Order: sequence, then structure tokens, then C-alpha cells
Amino acid sequence: MSDSQSTPAIQKLRQMREQARAGGGAERVARQHERGKLTARERLDLLLDENSFHELGMFVTHRTREFGMDKQRFLGDGVVTGYGTINGRLVYVYSQDFTVLGGSLGRAHADKIVSLLQMAMKNGAPVIGLNDSGGARIQEGVVSLGGYADIFLQNTLASGVIPQLSAILGPCAGGAVYSPAITDFIVMVHGSSHMFVTGPDVVKTVTHEDLTFDELGGAQVHSAKSGLAHFATKSEGEALAVLRTLLGYLPQNNMDDPPTVPCEDDPLRTDPALDTIVPDNPNQPYDMREVLRRVLDDGTFFEVHELYGQNIMVGFGRLNGRTVGIVAQQPMVLAGVLDNDASIKGARFVRFCDCFNIPIVTFEDVPGFMPGLVQEHGGIIRNGAKLLYAYCEATVPKLTVITRKAYGGAYDVMSSKHIRGDINLAWPSAEIAVMGPDGAVNIIFRREINEAEDPVARKAELVAEYREQFANPYVAASWGYIDDVIEPRDTRPRLISALEMLQNKRDENPPKKHGNIPL
Ligand code: HXC
Repeated sequence: MSDSQSTPAIQKLRQMREQARAGGGAERVARQHERGKLTARERLDLLLDENSFHELGMFVTHRTREFGMDKQRFLGDGVVTGYGTINGRLVYVYSQDFTVLGGSLGRAHADKIVSLLQMAMKNGAPVIGLNDSGGARIQEGVVSLGGYADIFLQNTLASGVIPQLSAILGPCAGGAVYSPAITDFIVMVHGSSHMFVTGPDVVKTVTHEDLTFDELGGAQVHSAKSGLAHFATKSEGEALAVLRTLLGYLPQNNMDDPPTVPCEDDPLRTDPALDTIVPDNPNQPYDMREVLRRVLDDGTFFEVHELYGQNIMVGFGRLNGRTVGIVAQQPMVLAGVLDNDASIKGARFVRFCDCFNIPIVTFEDVPGFMPGLVQEHGGIIRNGAKLLYAYCEATVPKLTVITRKAYGGAYDVMSSKHIRGDINLAWPSAEIAVMGPDGAVNIIFRREINEAEDPVARKAELVAEYREQFANPYVAASWGYIDDVIEPRDTRPRLISALEMLQNKRDENPPKKHGNIPL
């Protein structure tokens, strides 16, 4: 039926849909564009497969009358909610519309998000939230605070059941920040995303610090310093593309396995360049990212938290088409030591993988935990315990490759067999011991060195002896603490065969309400 033939009822429906799609009106949409921001619906078009979006709750409006709100009713109430697909897989989405009352959250707006989260949990599919909001709708008062709390509860209940991803594409202030913070991953955009508990004006009054929005809570700050954001991109388009890629590694829910993709990279591919990647001098760094590139399918490592705690790397890759979570020391940064940030970063990632049945592959080259006042006072014991706890409790397949150093407590922590590592491999360059040769001889041969005719020469001899005896993988192998010493070139085929061998792994923790991870 053409427009002219349609019934008045259908015409009314069409007109209402048009009205809803117009959001806060042409002028506010133009203002949004002037700021370099897309509208809520334009974002969904970029995020989802073409024509896959089905909107729910388009005609919802608020019921507030105070402060002239009865004259400011917008269809949809400032948030577009519904479902669609990303690369053919179902996702639930909400996208806040800053052109409608600044995307502020009132009762009706909150109810739409809550019901979306409930539907996503019931049907076992990820939720993606696109946040762009002035926060609690001031005209609705405490009711909007209640709405936020309802969302926080649903986010928490959904945690570990379905993946929850957040993009921050505008302001995100006050208590509103806690919904994204509970979700699994946050992406921010340089220049237009801001997250803070209180904005610069209040900060100036309270602490007398004079800060810009970016200095206080921009994408750079949260991706490199606070660790809140997992990705920081240059544009909204890039942020949405990151979410699409990320989702490709994840299962739909905690009862599902991650997707397997066809793999064109030979699973038996060996790489002789790996044989010489670890320098002869144990104090010389090398790029672990290069190791990952040479081992993973198509050289692709999708790094998460790239700018934060860079001495450890976490992210996703594939081995023969299967998703794996990677945790790897980076010897190029602080010699790959475990400090507070690295421990927290690693722990959160290991727990995510364990929630969602993603095998964890650990590449280990760790001189130990970072010593010193700053680290101790910063909580390195508590934070290191987080990483230890996360690895201990994880029941997904756990593979470990020790490329070089595995010293002290850090050896235990990094997915050792003692804490249920399934297959632990070492390269011949591995050094597995209580501590490095230098520190060790200083302690156990202090008197002998001091009393020697030439203390420097004697110490060098003892270090060489210690290295020969202990700084190798064979003592650990003789105890069965590692499963095999392999030629580095064989790392990819060995990991793939181990992963396939473990694909039906079943392991459980004792029944309990929940553990008490040292937060
Ligand atoms: C109602 C709001 C609003 C809000 C913005 N608007 N924030 N309406 N409640 N919280 C409306 C404005 O009136 C305006 O309406 C439109 O949105 C755009 O706002 P502008 O100020 O013109 O935009 P801009 O200059 O870009 O500034 C954006 C902003 C600013 C930085 C977000 O609006 C702002 O500071 N808003 C208040 C932020 C805030 O303090 N929120 C409460 C946080 S506390 P018109 O009609 O002109 O288009 C909180 C507690 C949550 O959220 C607790 C949970 C437990």
C-alpha cells in the first residue's frame, strides 16, 4: 500500500516513528554533529549488521510533570534499545540519545535498560551499551537514582553470565560511571569521552585542583593511568569497530563455547626465528609481542589494556581458529616484572576468560614481583594475590610457555602446574629458580665471596656455577613441574595440539556461594 492509500491509523504510526527517530530535533542533532559526535541511531547503524536492528520500547515516555517536564516528552525517553546482529550473532544494545534531555537517565529510560539486560540474560546474548548522558535526570530526583541502582544490580547479576561491553561516547559522570565500570570492557574516544565521579568544577571547589575534562577523566587518563578503560580510540567509528572485533572472540554466554573460525594458518607451522629471539644475555630485553605474532593464527594479537601496566600484556588471539586469552610478560617494559598495575590487569583478564570458557595461554618471562616502598605501600601483596587467586580458581584449559625467567613467587603465580596449569612448556632458555643467579649467590655465598682473595672473580665463578645448576628448565622438568622442554620453533604446533587435547576438559571448584578474592 502506498503512503496515500494507507489508513489513518498506519499514517499515525509512521508519523510517530518519524517523531521518535528525530530524537531531540534537528537543531540538537546538528549540535551533536558539530561536536564531532554521532547520534544514538547513527552509532547503532555503524555497530550492527546492516538492517539487523529491531527497536524495542520506541514509544516509551517519562511520566514526570514537575519542572515543565509534561511539555518535554520525547518518544523513547532518550535511549534507543533493541537487538540486532554483529557478524550474524545476536546482541542486545542500548544507545543513549544526548539530543533528548542530554541523554539523562530518568525512571522510564532506566526501565528500558533494565528490561533489555534481563532479556539478554534470559536469552544468553551479549549486551552492548553506548553511553552518552548527562547522568541522573535532575527533574526526576531520587527516582532516577533508583533507576541507576536497578541497572547496577542487573549489570552485577549479568556479570559472568553474558559478556557486557560499554562504549563511552560522551559525558559519563557521577554514579553513572559505575554501570560501565561493572561491565567487562570499556572503550573510550579521545576528546569526546569523559568519566569522573565529579566534574572539574566540583573538584576545583573541593581539592583546589584546576583540571580540564580530559585531564580529569579523558580516554588517555583512563586507558593509561586508572586502567578503567580497556581501549582508547581516535574516533567513534573506530570505537564501534573495536567492539565488533572484540565480540568476535567471545562466546554468547557462560554456557557457550567461544566461536571457532576457519583457520588458513597452518597449525603445524614452525618458526625457526623463535629459536634466536631470546638474547644470550639474560638482562637484555626482547619483544614478547613478536613471539605472540609468530605463534598465533595469522600473526594477530588483539590487545586489551594496551596502555596500562605495559609490563604485562593481555588480549585475545586464535590458535587453529579457536579463541585463546593471552597473558604475557613484556620484557621490554620494566623487564616484565609483576607490579601492582600488572597484577590487577592480569587478574581481571584471567577471571574474564574463566567466566566465559576461554582457554588461557601464558607466556612467561618474569624476574619476580617488583620490590620497594612504592609497590609495598601500594599493596603489591594484596594485588599480587589477586593474580594468584585468579589463576588458582580458573578451571578453563591453562597452557604456559616459559620463555626465559620464572623466578620466585612469580613462577608459582603465572599458571604453574601447582595451581592447575594443564600443560606447561619451557624453552631451553628458561631459568626456573627461587631467584636470579646474582641475588642468589649474594645470599648463600656472602661470606665466601667476602673472604675470597678476589671477591669479584669468585662471585663471577659462583654465578656461573649457579646458572649452570639452577638457571635452566631441567631441574623443574626433573620434578615434573614442567611437562616438556621444547624447541621454540615448535611452540605453535605444540600449543595447538595441547589445546585440542584439552578441549573436553572438566574441572570444578568446591561448591560455595562465592570465593573471597582479595579485592
Ligand atoms: C536533565 C540534563 C542533564 C541532566 C544535561 N541535561 N544534563 N537534563 N538532567 N542531568 C540537558 C540540558 O538541560 C540540555 O537540555 C541538554 O541536556 C544538553 O546539555 P548542555 O548542558 O547544553 O550540554 P553540554 O554543554 O554539552 O554539557 C553537557 C554536560 C552538562 C557536561 C553533561 O549538561 C552537565 O554538566 N549536566 C549535568 C551533569 C550532572 O551533574 N549530572 C548529574 C550527575 S550525578 P536542552 O533542552 O537545552 O537541550 C549523577 C548521579 C547518578 O548522575 C547517581 C547514580 C547512583
